[in-house]
Formats: sequence, structure tokens, C-alpha cells
Amino acid sequence: MKQFLSVQDVPSISTMLKEVDEIKKTPFVHQALGKNKTLGLVFLNPSLRTRMSTQKAASNLGMNVMVLNVGQESWQWEMADDAVMNGDRPEHIKDAARVMSQYCDIIGIRCFPSLKNKLEDDQEQVLSQFVQYCEVPVISLESATRHPLQSMADLITINEFSPVNKKPKVVLAWAPHIKALPQAVGNSFSEWMTAAQLDFHIAQPKGFELNEQFTPNAILHHDLNSAIKDADFIYIKNWSSYHEYGKLYDGDKTPWLLDSDQISSLCPNAKIMHCMPVRRNIEVKDELLDGAQSLIYKQAQNRIYSAQWVLQQMLQSHLS
Ligand code: CP
Repeated sequence: MKQFLSVQDVPSISTMLKEVDEIKKTPFVHQALGKNKTLGLVFLNPSLRTRMSTQKAASNLGMNVMVLNVGQESWQWEMADDAVMNGDRPEHIKDAARVMSQYCDIIGIRCFPSLKNKLEDDQEQVLSQFVQYCEVPVISLESATRHPLQSMADLITINEFSPVNKKPKVVLAWAPHIKALPQAVGNSFSEWMTAAQLDFHIAQPKGFELNEQFTPNAILHHDLNSAIKDADFIYIKNWSSYHEYGKLYDGDKTPWLLDSDQISSLCPNAKIMHCMPVRRNIEVKDELLDGAQSLIYKQAQNRIYSAQWVLQQMLQSHLS
């Protein structure tokens, strides 16, 4: 594996799920693979889970880890080609990527969208340049349009909690928020649910449909109650408008905030998922996050194993 930027980089979902199962049983068995290898983790945006779970995964494989928070403890990066760099960004991304390639065997990078320039975000202006100039395998730690390590962990979790002998019904349910958030988690989740061939639905207000490039096989709803009927999994997540790019929802939020009565009456066995961080009682009520059907901490735990599977593939195939 030379890069991990989307589900397209996983040759077989079913093989991956079996291999993750083995990793979870014996997480330290491949410590020799990472000996004397270094993972660089580059963050242009904040993180708790991605940072700690990926460090933990690397440590399970015997790797060294270096973390760089761009702009806070390093130079700000210039992204524009042919820039005359007379502003407040003293290092070009192409130089940063090439320099870090001298120190690291694998590099992960987190680069959120601006939510202002749709074309640049759709083209993954930051990630694509980093990949172009980086001389070692690159892992996306969430980019402008996707969050593949999160979606892989979500799929692992769904696989572990699915009803026996039934294709699970999975609903990605838009929820309110106080800030305009990226569409990356929703896009990516949709891609992974499609690749896994699950019964996949998305519920969102009108105007908040994701980029259809990511949702070709999803069943779309504009009513939350009809979408969640008989659901096995409800993945709750906010995103800002793709079509009115970056717009925050200004309609009535009440119908989009789920409660336990709805779950009991419409989908009593549904598991509740969220990638976190979650704004409690804005996006999801405490009663659901803390209830017996919540999988949010299982998802967070599985972030270790999605990262470990990816690192292991890269160490085995590209660096051995
Ligand atoms: N879910 C997720 O990626 O969390 P962080 O932003 O804290 O890494």
C-alpha cells in the first residue's frame, strides 16, 4: 500500500475486516515490522482521537512517532504554486513535504477544507500537493473531502455489532450544530457503506444533500423518522451545506434532534454512532450518547485498529 486516502486504497473490504480481527486479538505480534521506522503525523487542524489512536497504533507496531502541529510549533505553509512568498507564510508545502520525507518512513496529514473555496476543497488542494511532493507513503488523517481512517473504524464497529444473518440498515442522520462543519465524515462514511454493500440511507434537510459523487447508492430522505424506521445503526453527524457551500442550517432544528422515544418506537434495536467530538444536547442528547445502545467509545477504540491495519499494510508491502 503506497497511500491511504480513501476506500479505493483498500483492495478487499472483507479481507481487511478479517485482518483487523486478527490484529485486535494479537496487537503486538508485529512489533519487529516497525523497528527503526518513523511515522510523522502532521496536523494543520486540531485532533484528539486521530492523533492518539494513530500514535497508539504505531507504538503497537514498534514504530517511532513524530508529531508536528503546523503553524503552532512550525512555520506556516504557503500552498499556492508559483507564490511570491512575501506574506506571513515562510515555508512552501512542497519544501515541507520533501524535508519531512528525509525524516519519516510514512507520513499522515490532517488538512480540513476552507469551506469557502468549493473548487479548491473539492480538488483537495492541500492533500494533493502534499502527496505530489512527499517521497514516502501518505495517510490521510482527514482531508477536505474524506476521513477514511474514521470510516474504516466505523465499518469495523458496524461489522462487530451487526445482527446475525441480516444485511444491516445503516442511517447517516444529519444533526444540528452551532458551527459550519466539513462534509468529510459524511462523504467518507457514505463511500465505505457503499463499498461494504450495506442497506445505506441518509437523512438530511433539503439543501443539505452531500456531493452526489459520494452518495451514488445511498437512499436519500428529508424526513428523519421515516429514514430511521427499523434501522440497525444510526450514525449521527452534522455537516454544512455542500450546494450553498459552507452554509450553516438556519431552519427549525427540533425535528433533527433525536430522542430515546423515537428510537424506542421506530427502531428499538438501533445502535447509536458518532465520530466525536460531539456537542452534547446540540447534536445528540445525553440520553442517547450515554445509553446502552451507544457505540461511540467502541468507534473511538477501533480508530486504533484502522490505523494499525493501514500502517501494517504499508510496512509490509512498501517498506519491507
Ligand atoms: N473523530 C475524529 O477524527 O476525532 P479528532 O478530530 O479528535 O481526531
